[in-house]
Amino acid sequence: MTAPRRSILSVPGHRPRMHQKASRSAVDVVMLDLEDSVPLDAKPAARTAVIKALNDLDWQGRTVTVRINGFDTAFGFRDLLAVAQEAGGALSSVVIPKVDDPADIHCASRLLDGIEMERGGGAPIGIEATIESARGMQNIAAIAAASPRLVSLVFGIADYSASIGARLVSISGHGEAEEQIYPGHRWNFALGRLVMAAKAQDLLAIDAPYGNFRDPAGLERAASISCALGCDGKWAIHPDQIETINRVFSPSAEEIARARKILDAWEAARKQGLGAAAVDGRMIDQATVRLAQRLWDQARRMGLARPARKP
Ligand code: COA
Ligand code: MG
Repeated sequence: MTAPRRSILSVPGHRPRMHQKASRSAVDVVMLDLEDSVPLDAKPAARTAVIKALNDLDWQGRTVTVRINGFDTAFGFRDLLAVAQEAGGALSSVVIPKVDDPADIHCASRLLDGIEMERGGGAPIGIEATIESARGMQNIAAIAAASPRLVSLVFGIADYSASIGARLVSISGHGEAEEQIYPGHRWNFALGRLVMAAKAQDLLAIDAPYGNFRDPAGLERAASISCALGCDGKWAIHPDQIETINRVFSPSAEEIARARKILDAWEAARKQGLGAAAVDGRMIDQATVRLAQRLWDQARRMGLARPARKP
């Protein structure tokens, strides 16, 4: 059973107190960050602190990842080597920022091959690719297919906005007040493209964080939109955001009951040799059943649904 990745908390690498706090939070994935939340002069210290946290803290079954610096910086290559060599056993995946080209994934994957051969065993380390530029979005299908280590594609909203020259509408540039300058959803195409590329390779699609951590209603709206578009989870930048994200990305009791009703009605229709059936005045067919089955299976994996009753 794969652990859910609904909420992913970004935790600055140079703040060990925050590592502690994250290790006890209700989050699905803790992402220790070496990139943009860490000031330049704290980069080496953050790397050391992250390796120590990975090895020493009791993560109580939580998935732990590390966002390294990009390969276009002086830090990225050493982040990858140090973290994978010195704390690889505790590390679920490395998150690579600003992936513009599949070469970044090939490079990381080959280095991890060598590190794992030297280590001799243990679970393979995954790779998560953050797509945050026009070039990355252009090359997204090749990036998604670049390595069997890939776990997810992640939308980097603020850097992507900067890359394409979109206007800054809120203080943080992370998803707030978008509707004030664009009717509908400003990131519909970008997120839809990312979801399609991810799902075509059986990867998870993960949405960017919401920057206003004192606005649970705005967070809920942003998370609900990306969930509706097919995303599996969303980054958080503050512990107060975790509960909302977990709730939005979990099937609700109403959705689970609806899925069960469809599956039961389909079972009855199938016995009568029907290819389509009516439930509450709506048509259901095999595509409806696939949707319902997917939701039911997700609910079962999360322990939210009982096994189907024997007829
Ligand atoms: N991970 C773990 N703990 C966090 C946290 C995080 N991302 N953000 C806040 N906390 C902790 C604080 O340390 C504080 O703990 P305490 O009660 O033990 O002192 C508690 O949660 C409440 O924090 P609060 O005072 O509300 O916020 P703050 O002013 O300390 O921090 C931010 C606000 C935005 C600076 C902080 O949330 C942060 O650094 N977030 C992550 C930023 C990031 O990773 N950016 C890159 C990703 S795109
Ligand atoms: Mg970014």
